[in-house]
Amino acid sequence: MCGIVGYTGYRDVVSVLLKGLTNLEYRGYDSAGMAIRDGEDIKIFKTLGKLINLKNELESHRSEINNPVMGIGHIRWATHGSPSLVNAHPHTCSCGKLVVVHNGIIENYKELREQLIKKGCKFRSQTDTETIAHLIADEYSLCKNLETAVRNSVKKLQGAYAVCVIHKDVPDVIVGARKHAPMLIGIGEGENFIASDTPAIIEYTKKTVYLEDNEIAVVTKDNVKVTDINGNIVKKKVEILPWEPAALSKLGYKHFMLKEIHEQPDVIRNVLNGKLYDIDEPVELKEVNIDKNILKNLNKIQIIACGTSLHAALAGKYLIEEFSGISTEVEASSEYIYRRTTTDSSTLVIGVSQSGETADTITAIKQAKEKNAHVLIITNRPDSNMARLADSLIHVNAGIEVSVAATKSYTAQLISFYLLAIHLAEIKGFKDSKYLKGLKHELIQLPIKIEGILSDTSGIQKCARKFSSYKNFIYIARGINLATAYEGALKLKEISYINATGYPAGELKHGPIAMLDETMPVLSILIPGGITYEKVLSNSEEAKARNAKLIALTSIDDKNLESLFDFILRIPPVSEILSPVIACVPLQLLAYYIAEFLGKDVDQPRNLAKSVTVE
Ligand code: G6P
Repeated sequence: MCGIVGYTGYRDVVSVLLKGLTNLEYRGYDSAGMAIRDGEDIKIFKTLGKLINLKNELESHRSEINNPVMGIGHIRWATHGSPSLVNAHPHTCSCGKLVVVHNGIIENYKELREQLIKKGCKFRSQTDTETIAHLIADEYSLCKNLETAVRNSVKKLQGAYAVCVIHKDVPDVIVGARKHAPMLIGIGEGENFIASDTPAIIEYTKKTVYLEDNEIAVVTKDNVKVTDINGNIVKKKVEILPWEPAALSKLGYKHFMLKEIHEQPDVIRNVLNGKLYDIDEPVELKEVNIDKNILKNLNKIQIIACGTSLHAALAGKYLIEEFSGISTEVEASSEYIYRRTTTDSSTLVIGVSQSGETADTITAIKQAKEKNAHVLIITNRPDSNMARLADSLIHVNAGIEVSVAATKSYTAQLISFYLLAIHLAEIKGFKDSKYLKGLKHELIQLPIKIEGILSDTSGIQKCARKFSSYKNFIYIARGINLATAYEGALKLKEISYINATGYPAGELKHGPIAMLDETMPVLSILIPGGITYEKVLSNSEEAKARNAKLIALTSIDDKNLESLFDFILRIPPVSEILSPVIACVPLQLLAYYIAEFLGKDVDQPRNLAKSVTVE
């Protein structure tokens, strides 16, 4: 959801900002812009659409930029005001001297805008951000100090913001401020950075200072000063980023999504590492700080999440109830926020989020905290806002995920839920230890099985080619693989724009069956030996009787299946309880290859953003 980067230092400013924006492009790609301080002037460049357009624009104006010393850049995912050039950031005050980039939403911008118009400000765009530019400029005209002007202005803003501000009359200074939107500073030698997320700076420095809500940073090339909303100096801890720049390279793969799918065996090993040492040892979850007695007597768990994380949560509910008998609810964060929940101090609330920045989930977590629930966060970003709210944390360790469609973070979330559920089973003594040993053994084998799938994807590609012209798909499953059906269908929707829906197989006959004919492929998840196999098979036969094209995802080698199904996607044999980890991989690849054959923008699908920081 919008990306911000600012730089001051000795390097080529345009290149640093473009690199930073490239690494943030997963946050939005409706338009992009940059303000460069070039000698005495501030030069602004904006383009519609993806970042490549801004790159080309800058290339054609390169000779006009002679002495760049600092700048701020922005990549936009439109919220207020359509994706147009006039709405693209940076925005300026009426005289153009003060320049702002912003991530977030200003809720009271209309009132502020009216007040500023009465004062004579000339608005050009429909954005909430332009209000910030006029507001700070108005304050600056009174106090003549950019830091004070920003401080006085942000006090008047309601909503969420991460802003970077520069002013023509204040050379070499970038002022940053944040509330409910992430912002960090990268510390260098003779150079400093400011950004909305770490990928923007990782190629240049690993030393980072995270701004907290209501803090203001004054950044020059040699210094960083952070103050609170009252102007008191805040001593900040410098943290070292755990990521390597190679995470932001495709390493020879055509798309980040394909690379990230192929990383999954190692991701699983990473998640297990340090938590599952030996099948005879209990699972260790050091960062789960809940008293064992409280855990033992826990009678309710609520899991809140959005998108792909919500599907991991569904599998998590199944596992927790199966392994510990604790009643578990799953809810979309955006729904949890607006209802009377039964959360209280005896509830464990689990927030699941790849980014740790999803606004709906953050709000839901804050509500749960207000009700005194213990909050456990499962996230790929231990440096995120959500992680900072956590009473307990499980870091899923998937590494930076660049493709907007989540793949490896989903697998890592699933594995984290297996570990958590086994941990609860061990504390409660709910499952037979022999069963748990067998499960741990199979868990450790999962990466090898996935490597088997990844080593030959020709069958999946064939299936993708055969079905890429269909306009609608239904994915069916029962039990724990309902999550897999939802997630498989979501992947296809997200990157190919084909209408795909996951249904509980048993629900097919209660409505969706009316849609079935030869134009509608039905993909069934069939895990031999599992409690749902026979029933999903009969539901598939019901679909066949309505002329639907049938695809099976299964490990069984059975001639009878070959006559029923039009295509069989094979997976290695796996127990039903662990099968979601294996079954999701061919479905990710099926979505990937269909989107690829259709020539879609796989890594940056239209209208989506990787991290949705607005509710
Ligand atoms: C966006 C992304 C999805 C993601 C969802 C939740 O909609 O496009 O891929 O699943 O946000 O994100 P989170 O970071 O909270 O898991």
